[in-house]
Amino acid sequence: RHISWDVQAAQKDGYKHFMLKEIFEQPKVIRDCLAGRIQKGRVVLTELDALDIPGRLTIVACGTSYHAGLWAKYLLESWARIPVQVEIASEFRYRDSVFLPDDLILTISQSGETADTLAAVRIAHEAGVPILGLCNVVGSSIARESDQVVYTQAGPEISVASTKAMCSQMVLLLLMTLSWGARKGTLPEEVKERCLEELAEMPTTLERDLPVIRGKARSLCQEYSDAKSFFFLGRGQNFPLALEGALKLKEISYIHAEGYASGEMKHGPIALIDPQFPTFAMALGDELLQKVASNLQEVQARGGRIIALVNPGAAPAVDESWVLPDVWGPLKSFLVLPAVQLFAYEMAVYLGKDVDQPRNLAKSVTVE
Ligand code: G6P
Repeated sequence: RHISWDVQAAQKDGYKHFMLKEIFEQPKVIRDCLAGRIQKGRVVLTELDALDIPGRLTIVACGTSYHAGLWAKYLLESWARIPVQVEIASEFRYRDSVFLPDDLILTISQSGETADTLAAVRIAHEAGVPILGLCNVVGSSIARESDQVVYTQAGPEISVASTKAMCSQMVLLLLMTLSWGARKGTLPEEVKERCLEELAEMPTTLERDLPVIRGKARSLCQEYSDAKSFFFLGRGQNFPLALEGALKLKEISYIHAEGYASGEMKHGPIALIDPQFPTFAMALGDELLQKVASNLQEVQARGGRIIALVNPGAAPAVDESWVLPDVWGPLKSFLVLPAVQLFAYEMAVYLGKDVDQPRNLAKSVTVE
C-alpha cells in the first residue's frame, strides 16, 4: 500500500502549525532547562561561577527576548538585589552608555544571530565589560563572542513567532536569579523553601492545563475577532507579559494591539476605549490585584469590554473571566504566557492567517 509521507507534517508531530507544536512543547522545555541544573536542592550554573556577581546588570535584547529580560528584572532586583536595566539592542548600540566597574552585560537571543544584539556584544567587548549570553542556538555568533554562555534547552524553534524560547529564557533567568541570590545571601526564606520545588511541578501542571487554556482561547475568537485594536494590561511581572501578548497578536493575527502597564492607562491611552476596543487584562491573585481591579473599573466605565486572566476566588467582575490554576508566586507567569500565546494563535487561525509565516517578518533578523 502506498503511504504518502509529508516531511513537514511529520515534523509537526500532527499539530497543524509549528507555532502550536512549540507552545505545547513548553512542559518539556521546562523539564529540559531544569535537567542537570539542580543538584541537592541547589541551582548549578557553573557558567555564572566563572563571573563576578554583577554590581549592576544591563540586559540587552530584541523582540520577545527583550520581554523575557523585562520579566526577569523584577526577580533579579527583589531576590538577588542586583540593580537591573533592560535595553532594546537597537537603542543601546547607538547610545553613549556609561559603564561602571562591576557591570555585567547579559544579552538574550534565541537565534544568537540578531544583528543589533550582536552589535551590543561588540560594544560591551570594546568597553571591556564582561558579557554573558543567554542563547538557544549552540555555536551562534552571540554565543561565540560572549565571555560566558548559558544555553536554553528549547530545541529548534521553527515558527517565526517565538513561543517556547521565551519560556526557556524565563526558566534560566529564574535560575540565574536563584544562583546569584544564593551567593549573595539575599534570597527570601519562602523563595528558598518553595521556588525549585514549585518549578519542578510546572511541567505537569502545564501538561494538564494547556488543552484547557487552548479551548478557552478558541471560545473567545468569534466574539472578539471584529476588534480592530486590543489593549493588553498588566502590572509588575505581568506588564512584560502584556507586552508579549500584544506582540503575539500583532505578529500573527494582524490585529493592532498595545501592551501597557495598567497604571499608565490614565495618562492617555484610556481616551481610546470604546466598545470596539477591548482589553485583555492580567488580573491574577497577587498583591497588585486591587490596583489592577480599579484600573479595570475605569475601562468598564468607558464601555470597554474586558477579558481577564484570573485565579479562582478573588476575581474582578469583567465580561470574560479566564480562570487559570493558582500556582505559587511568580510562577503564575508560566501559565499567563501560554494563555496569551494561544489567544493570538487561535485568533490568527480563526481569521485565516498564515500562522507560521506571517507577512513581513523574519525568524532571525541578521541585518539592521
Ligand atoms: C525576530 C523574531 C522574534 C524574536 C526577535 C529576537 O524579530 O521574529 O520572534 O523575538 O527577532 O530574536 P532573537 O533570536 O535575538 O531572540
